[in-house]
Amino acid sequence: MNMDYQNILEDIYREILPFAKEGRQADYIPALAKIDPDQFGMCLNTVDGDVYPFMQADTRFSIQSITKVFALAMCLSIKGEDLWKRVGKEPSGTAFNSLVQLEIEKGIPRNPFINAGAIVVADILLSELEDAEGEFLRFVRTLCGCEDVDYNEDVAMSERHQGYLNAAIANLLKYHGTIHNDIERVLMFYFRMCSIEMSCRELSKAFIAFTNHIPFDFAGYHLSASQIKRLNAVMQTCGFYDEAGEFSYLVGLPGKSGVGGGIIAIYPMRYSVAVWSPRLNNKGNSIMGMKALELLTTATQESIF
Ligand code: DON
Repeated sequence: MNMDYQNILEDIYREILPFAKEGRQADYIPALAKIDPDQFGMCLNTVDGDVYPFMQADTRFSIQSITKVFALAMCLSIKGEDLWKRVGKEPSGTAFNSLVQLEIEKGIPRNPFINAGAIVVADILLSELEDAEGEFLRFVRTLCGCEDVDYNEDVAMSERHQGYLNAAIANLLKYHGTIHNDIERVLMFYFRMCSIEMSCRELSKAFIAFTNHIPFDFAGYHLSASQIKRLNAVMQTCGFYDEAGEFSYLVGLPGKSGVGGGIIAIYPMRYSVAVWSPRLNNKGNSIMGMKALELLTTATQESIF
């Protein structure tokens, strides 16, 4: 069916405007506290190549935890099912930076999207790749077709300086033998991956690779259709941490959020949509972003349920 996505995005924005001042941007990463919180962008890319940008669709922002999907895709491509010996695929029901389960479950993180799991994925990539930073960037650049997408070293260093909780997680993982490389090295790679800056247009384009369930080959990394399906499943169940149920309930699409205020969501075989608004709720997810996606799937009746 042909949808008038452009008009739908405009209507959605009018409807969510009353919430524009709710919540605040992440400030536990000092560099992100400086961001103007009153920005909004959105972009929908269809698998047929149509692009629907809206407002600040071309403004780059810190993708933060959205990067964990790229890291998982790369790691799945390299390790296949063996990956799941080092990290689980169950929803955690806890905050993205929680330590609680990690202690009880002896250093095996619940899933690759909580910080502990993503730090393990970073460790695996470091072990497997000679130039992990370079390879990761090459992969993301190929997915979005933009050669100048890059890490923001200031954001990465700013997070490192205040990154006591992630350092605690990495230490606990190391104690249990779940990470193999030097802790400092793993953390810096993890913070760099989180610091990548992309626009909604670039993000939604990059995620088309995970929208079409056909085998992919990007920058020398392959995923089968079945692996892409499973990646979507992990996004659906774990992409929003202790708000994964709420996101499923309200939006009904596989998705992933980041504390930079970005959210990516996938309507399988049809479109990927990125939305960005820095003000977050108390679970670390964008308030306007979640509302926009809830209205999108309600207006279009396009959800996986
Ligand atoms: O490790 C952190 O805390 C951040 N670099 C990423 C957290 C994040 O984006 C959580 N998602 N909503």
